Amino acid sequence: MSDAPPQQPEAIEQKEEEQTIAEPEELPEEGTIKFGDTIIIFENIDRISVHQLVQFGRYDGKFGTFYNMDFVGKHYGEPVYDNRKTNHVFPLKFCSKLWTLALDKRTQVLYLPDIATIINGLNVQAGDVIVEAGTGSGSLSHAFSEALGPTGHLYTFEFHEERAKAAKAEFDAHGLTNVTSTHRDVANGFAADGVEGQYADGLFLDVPQPWIALQHIIDTVKPGHMFVSFSPCIEQVQRTVTEAAQLGYTDIVTETVSTIVYDRRSRVLLDAIEQTITQLETGGKTVEKRLSKKIDDDEAQRMAAEATERRKRSVEVMRKVRETLPHGDTVHTMPMHEQATHTGYLSFMQTPIAAEPVKVELVVFERGGKRKNRGRGRGRG
Ligand SMILES: C[S@@+](CC[C@H](N)C(=O)[O-])C[C@H]1O[C@@H](n2cnc3c(N)ncnc32)[C@H](O)[C@@H]1O
Repeated sequence: MSDAPPQQPEAIEQKEEEQTIAEPEELPEEGTIKFGDTIIIFENIDRISVHQLVQFGRYDGKFGTFYNMDFVGKHYGEPVYDNRKTNHVFPLKFCSKLWTLALDKRTQVLYLPDIATIINGLNVQAGDVIVEAGTGSGSLSHAFSEALGPTGHLYTFEFHEERAKAAKAEFDAHGLTNVTSTHRDVANGFAADGVEGQYADGLFLDVPQPWIALQHIIDTVKPGHMFVSFSPCIEQVQRTVTEAAQLGYTDIVTETVSTIVYDRRSRVLLDAIEQTITQLETGGKTVEKRLSKKIDDDEAQRMAAEATERRKRSVEVMRKVRETLPHGDTVHTMPMHEQATHTGYLSFMQTPIAAEPVKVELVVFERGGKRKNRGRGRGRG
């Protein structure tokens, strides 16, 4: 796609007028995009946005102006062209994964590898009741809402008033009817509208001081169910797990999720080897020549001779490699260059079952060693 020149205001006004007077010819086909939908607009991998299709509205993207009416009746994934018919974008169906990639970040957010690990670690099932704090930008909240389904419920808490309001507005706009968003410091507990006591099947914290809520978590989560805490630094983890163990939490395990994405490349290896041989034969010679010009310098002469010897050996090796290589394209994979790895530590633990805190035994697992079962489902009816 090329960069489109800015739209002339008259052209935009004229198109908007057309949208106002145009009568819908027929109702959009079942399953296609309609006014009122919240969609994801994919311009390219670096520009993914959320857009609500209000009547007479438009989307001003990097590649031009796209009228809302031009999306209506299209299938998801079908290209939609700008009003100059030169560039296109792809409308995609709204879902929590795309929301995480498209959202306006008000805070640090959790990304898909951590989100998947949290949902799995909490053993979230459709119909469960899950508690979360802080809501932040609602990245994880959307994933919880999706995993819980219409019969489940998410109670999410945020102590920053503006963030709490913004998140609530987004939950409403995206039709997340199974989410209750409360403006609250969780140091004061997790009671929400219409719920109190041990009402939760699992609880997740992404706050800087998780230990302040540990007793409240015991009062909120069913005994023997999972609590997961995300902390970016190890000092927070140490304090949280130490205090949790003292309060009787069990099966405490801390993990960090590290994703390595492999890039698939296809290239003619033979060409690469030929290039290397040519470089060795020509590039190396210049250095040796320079050295050997210093005829009165024994050390330079010795280095030049050694360099020539090394270069010849390398060329020989490369030639042997060339003989063994297949002709044509070779597909291979390699890790992508720039990848975010550590995002934070996830500490998983079970809320206490015993009335009295149990004696704590610390177990250190060797790298690659067997991981302890986190006791999923324990305590569930
Ligand atoms: C890193 S953000 C959470 C991001 C969120 N997990 C997401 O994926 O979008 C942490 C949030 O916790 C909120 N927070 C911090 N301490 C809190 C507390 N004691 N009670 C409630 N919210 C708190 C902050 O205001 C901030 O918005």
